[in-house]
Amino acid sequence: MSRYRIAPSILSADFARLGDEVRTVLAAGADWIHFDVMDNHYVPNLTVGPMVCQALKPHAVKPDGTPAPIDVHLMVQPVDALAQAFAAAGADLISFHADASTHVDRTLQLIRGAGCKAGLVFNPAASLDVLEWTIDQLDLVLIMSVNPGFGGQSFIDGALRKIERVRRLIDASGRDVRLEVDGGIKVDNIRRVADAGADTFVAGSAIFGKPDYASVIRAMRTALEG
Ligand code: DX5
Ligand code: ZN
Repeated sequence: MSRYRIAPSILSADFARLGDEVRTVLAAGADWIHFDVMDNHYVPNLTVGPMVCQALKPHAVKPDGTPAPIDVHLMVQPVDALAQAFAAAGADLISFHADASTHVDRTLQLIRGAGCKAGLVFNPAASLDVLEWTIDQLDLVLIMSVNPGFGGQSFIDGALRKIERVRRLIDASGRDVRLEVDGGIKVDNIRRVADAGADTFVAGSAIFGKPDYASVIRAMRTALEG
């Protein structure tokens, strides 16, 4: 299997038919389901909570019956109680913004202790310093290429330099840590993002904004591997 993962963000899906949307996008070739949690406090928007994650869990299956990871992106503050609630609701990976937790190490311990993979998220203007002290506890680093809160924004080019830097840190650690990028990913820029060092790609409007999800995902894979 390719090392690349495509993680459609259900933020741009039809919220009245989320279960179907999850099944359809997995049948169209997606690898993970990216689940954006917004609290109208850390970000100026409000989405869904652990009950919706739990309700979607049985729908997060690929056509061959294998479960697809639910990749929870917490844009909330405080973090700890909701991280635990999402672990109980069936999340496979839980990522939070480093600047949203007062005690990042404790939050990482909570997530891993609950049996989930843990990720740290960095906004476009956020420093990566905390990675020096946390990389040994991480399964994923998520670089924001837009300011969090909304789908459909344009990719911020400065993210590419940050992705290159994180790639060097991960490689130096020798650990198996995914490097995910979120915001403004399209068929025509995904290759540049991969060339900078990313291996996991969130895409909301690029996939759910088109009638044929499979053709977008296929075009993304062709851009990545071709
Ligand atoms: C933004 C969210 C993203 C968003 C991406 O705060 O974290 O996951 O849904 O949407 P697009 O791909 O449309 O930029
Ligand atoms: Zn996200």
